[in-house]
Amino acid sequence: MKFPGIKKDAKEEAPAAVAFEGNQPVNVIVVGPGNVGTPFLALAPGNPSGVQMVSVIRDAADLKGDLERFKPHIVLLSPEARNYHADLVYELTNNPDGPLAVVALAPPTGTFGQEMAQQGAVGFYTTPITTAIVEKFAAEARSLYDLAREKWHKPLIDSGVDRRTLESIGAQAYKTGVVTFWSTKGGDGKTVLAVNTACLLGLFAGKHVLLIDTDMNCGRVHLHLEVKPEQNTLFHLASDYMTNSNTLTGQILRRRVVSVDRIMDPRTKVVEPRLDVLFGLTDILQSSHPALKGEQGQAFMMALLDLAQRLYDFVLVDMGSNTQIGTHFGSLMSSDMVIFICSSDKSSLMPNRDTVKRLIQQADIAPDKFFMVLNRYDARDGLSPKDISEYMGMPLAAVVAEDTSREMMLAVNDGKPFVLSHLGKNNAAAEQTMHGLLAVAETIYPPMGQIITERSGGRGRRLFKAKK
Ligand SMILES: Nc1ncnc2c1ncn2[C@@H]1O[C@H](COP(=O)(O)OP(=O)(O)O)[C@@H](O)[C@H]1O
Ligand SMILES: [Mg+2]
Repeated sequence: MKFPGIKKDAKEEAPAAVAFEGNQPVNVIVVGPGNVGTPFLALAPGNPSGVQMVSVIRDAADLKGDLERFKPHIVLLSPEARNYHADLVYELTNNPDGPLAVVALAPPTGTFGQEMAQQGAVGFYTTPITTAIVEKFAAEARSLYDLAREKWHKPLIDSGVDRRTLESIGAQAYKTGVVTFWSTKGGDGKTVLAVNTACLLGLFAGKHVLLIDTDMNCGRVHLHLEVKPEQNTLFHLASDYMTNSNTLTGQILRRRVVSVDRIMDPRTKVVEPRLDVLFGLTDILQSSHPALKGEQGQAFMMALLDLAQRLYDFVLVDMGSNTQIGTHFGSLMSSDMVIFICSSDKSSLMPNRDTVKRLIQQADIAPDKFFMVLNRYDARDGLSPKDISEYMGMPLAAVVAEDTSREMMLAVNDGKPFVLSHLGKNNAAAEQTMHGLLAVAETIYPPMGQIITERSGGRGRRLFKAKK
């Protein structure tokens, strides 16, 4: 745990294993029968190619020890190796200790090459291995490893959710749009739910997501992600809008958003960012600046959301509680869906109901875009989710339990969203909270339900125990 602005211990920040910098040699293990492995000895340590064989073995059963010892970047794997088995490629590419590229050394007949590619191998060479193939491999090794880095995401690996499930979730077409997280009381969980849902949809489901912090009472999203907002804020964009005769373009917006994909794990190579963030106000005085005040603020917010929903699959808005503020009101008006957050606390429920009722009557906001999420739920509070949903007159989309294990609080204080480290095995309390967060994401993007199904089925294969 650390306080905002205080840098972590450098040791703690360094990736645990398999760091890979520009001219560091690429370490390779070959696993296969003698005639397949021996030609690669041309790449003995110290050769000038920058690619070196650190171990040549015949038996796949020896791999585990060698991986720990040599921490290779690439495994050249022949299905003719002793003790080769059908799941091996999958297990290696899901190595929890860091990205690992598996390259198949496939016989010219049979379908091994295709099967291994399906399991995650990033390339293959056909045997017999000639000098030309060894040279080709030496030239391609770095880009093969980079391919593995693109596919390797630590939280995904630790979750045990099959990568193919995630790819199929990401590939499904579904209604997209602007989703606002709102409640009328501070502390109900608008920010925490918006941030975690953005991570689930962007970093896990691979949707293209923009998270916007519009809380006029100062933004807090940057604290949840441990990023300094600098000039990448709503205030800066609102000023751009005003000086540009009240127009926004994709180029202006792109200049102000920050891609946060690398928070997953710096060892992952990000080619196509999935999660962009526009941070919130850093000084409360900015909220009374003409660029954000009253009707100007509302027009800006509506223009921003109109543009953003054309550029992203999902635009998630972390809103402040007060609807009488132009920017907040503009968010509600421009939303396709409002995730309305309540807690089972009378002081949250009563004002929530009254405010929504008035808003729907007076501002012509469609009631059917409201979905209720009961956050911080604890059965000891004396109100049932069903009663609360009836009282609110809104469908209950999800119940997110109060995480009594305090891991949610710890995640906030660590600046690493809870879902990044809780998609795998959890204690009972954190698991209930995790389940609720997945249900929120499923409300917005139903294919996410596949993760819920897969997790409850307890599937997932791995060679090693995941480390957190
Ligand atoms: N389900 C939950 N379980 C445990 N703690 C929670 C939960 N939801 C929210 N919290 C805690 O409450 C704090 C306040 O939530 P936050 O998202 O900032 O509320 P809001 O944005 O509505 O003011 C969070 O930082 C988190 O520590
Ligand atoms: Mg908030």
